[in-house]
Amino acid sequence: MDVKTVCIVGGTGFVGMHVANRLVEQGYQVRVLTRRWYRGRDLLPLPRLQLIEADVHDERELVRHLGGCDAVINLAGVLNERRGARGGDFQQVHVELPQRVLDAARRASVPRYLHMSALGADPEGPSDYLRTKGAGERRVLASDAQEVAVTSFRPSVIFGADDHFLSRLAALARLAPGVLFLPSPAARFQPVYVGDVARAFVAALEDFYTAGRAYELCGPRTYTLRELVAYVVELCGLRRRVVGLPAALSRLSARVLGALPGRPYTLDNHRSTQVPSCCREDGLAELGIRATPLEAVAPTYIGRTGRQAQYQEVRREAGR
Ligand SMILES: NC(=O)c1ccc[n+]([C@@H]2O[C@H](COP(=O)([O-])OP(=O)(O)OC[C@H]3O[C@@H](n4cnc5c(N)ncnc54)[C@H](OP(=O)(O)O)[C@@H]3O)[C@@H](O)[C@H]2O)c1
Repeated sequence: MDVKTVCIVGGTGFVGMHVANRLVEQGYQVRVLTRRWYRGRDLLPLPRLQLIEADVHDERELVRHLGGCDAVINLAGVLNERRGARGGDFQQVHVELPQRVLDAARRASVPRYLHMSALGADPEGPSDYLRTKGAGERRVLASDAQEVAVTSFRPSVIFGADDHFLSRLAALARLAPGVLFLPSPAARFQPVYVGDVARAFVAALEDFYTAGRAYELCGPRTYTLRELVAYVVELCGLRRRVVGLPAALSRLSARVLGALPGRPYTLDNHRSTQVPSCCREDGLAELGIRATPLEAVAPTYIGRTGRQAQYQEVRREAGR
């Protein structure tokens, strides 16, 4: 399979930025479809990258923009639904959109589709997020590989500058006045570096043997949430006592935090933490990628701010 032009849906977000950068670095032409052009403005300096504003939920528009692409990557996802959406956003973005992108790929004769799922995705899972991620992944993997070859990726939480996990924990730690009350302190994660996730997507693009498979993506170590928060607090140079909340109070705090602007932690997030986000298989190793330790990257952006953090990570990636 000779892949030259890659189309990305959901390419303006945290993971998308890294996947797009990696593809451009490797010499691909990249076409990023976004619902709002300004969301992708940081991608504009990249050579060989086209940013296109489109209604990605409209199959006809998708067919038009996927024309001439050799592969499509779908990274679209929502961690928190809009208030009042009651499962609507999750269903639309995690189940209906992947099906639409795949159908459009078939109609536009795009032979390859890479899908972003999540570790723990399961149609019978404990949260709407995991259930819809599971249902969407199941649909695309069940499609006819003769027409479009599908590969799915199931990362644990992803870290790197501008991430939605460690950076958010750092922001919460800064806000906490001396004592940090932590919901689900025993929840387990095996965080994976965003640069490794981007490498996994690019490695799978041209490897025919990855078709029809789902790859679990994790870092080298498992941590409890309490350990991660303690580490973040240390990196920020803060003095905070971390107090783990029991189950009933964890649920209550998720209700309260889920009602705040920005919804830093919701009941659905809380339900997702009921299953460990840890790998049973080493998908990165299977793809020939050595997992980057959290401790090699987190100090480059946690406890630092803005551009300073981004440049530190770019330097690390470039080995400078
Ligand atoms: N970050 C993690 O720790 C993590 C862990 C496991 C799995 N994942 C999965 O990885 C993917 C990327 O995550 P991320 O952290 O990069 O998220 P992100 O920064 O929030 O970006 C999400 C992307 O999804 C698109 N999107 C959001 N709502 C949409 C909607 N209603 N309709 C169509 N597109 C929509 C956005 O595209 P536009 O606004 O440009 O249209 C955006 O580029 C997601 O599928 C997520 O579930 C992430």
